[in-house]
Amino acid sequence: MIQVVATIAEIRERIGQARRMDKRIGFVPTMGYLHAGHLSLVEAARRCSDIVVMSIFVNPLQFGPQEDFSRYPRDFERDRALAESAGVDLLFAPTVEEMYPQKILTTVSVAQVAEPLCGRSRPGHFEGVATVVAKLFHIIQPDFAFFGQKDAQQLAVIQRMVQDLSIPVTIVPCPIVREADGLAMSSRNVYLSAEERKQATVLYRSLERAKHLLAAGERRAAVIRKELKQMIEAEPLAVIDYVEVVHYPSMREATELNKGDQVLVALAVKFGRTRLIDNLISTIQ
Ligand code: PAF
Repeated sequence: MIQVVATIAEIRERIGQARRMDKRIGFVPTMGYLHAGHLSLVEAARRCSDIVVMSIFVNPLQFGPQEDFSRYPRDFERDRALAESAGVDLLFAPTVEEMYPQKILTTVSVAQVAEPLCGRSRPGHFEGVATVVAKLFHIIQPDFAFFGQKDAQQLAVIQRMVQDLSIPVTIVPCPIVREADGLAMSSRNVYLSAEERKQATVLYRSLERAKHLLAAGERRAAVIRKELKQMIEAEPLAVIDYVEVVHYPSMREATELNKGDQVLVALAVKFGRTRLIDNLISTIQ
């Protein structure tokens, strides 16, 4: 049965017990409102860990003042049941006061990798993410931690933080999980109206177009960006935040793509007040 823990002292105690029995700890950090994407992370965690720990914490540090922290969807009972049926052993669900009992003065910021794309559109976002993830890593001390590739820049930021700070955890990237029509699973999809939801499939359709262009030998990043922008702009409710082609995981802007390059084609598009992201990671052949 799943055990729900709300304090840092208690989760440390439980994890200490597991460690003394030489158990491998797999960790799935989330902000809750779980969907099949999160559950696929749990499944991956179960494959290589003895104990699966999930955190549910809507982290105020990673939301800007005009963003959706207060209206971010929350349903703890539903999440608890889903986590339990997916095979989570320990659910760490602290309050904001437990995580940040005083104004936080120590933060983690990852230069360069965190600066373009979402870092540009959401100032302070990745500092909030890196800080909470570093804090959670210190609390849980997992052997493995699982992150979805939908947040490809977040994944690059965390991988770089773990390398730079020698945090003893193996980061396991997990593939994007999609709805039947291609829309990437996201807790924020519930905000979409029926019409926005329909038009939002343009993100996936344009990434498929990018895949096709790359497979057909297109090597000019500007051409890919332009085609994708045109496709997205054809949807009347879509407002582009960015359409980017960058080297991955450095996040350096790409111009001409060369054999062996790993590139990230990344999109952020708003439908009404809902901002969606999606991406494609590809190695140039
Ligand atoms: O990807 C998320 O849900 C969050 O950014 C994370 C990693 C749980 C940190 O709050």
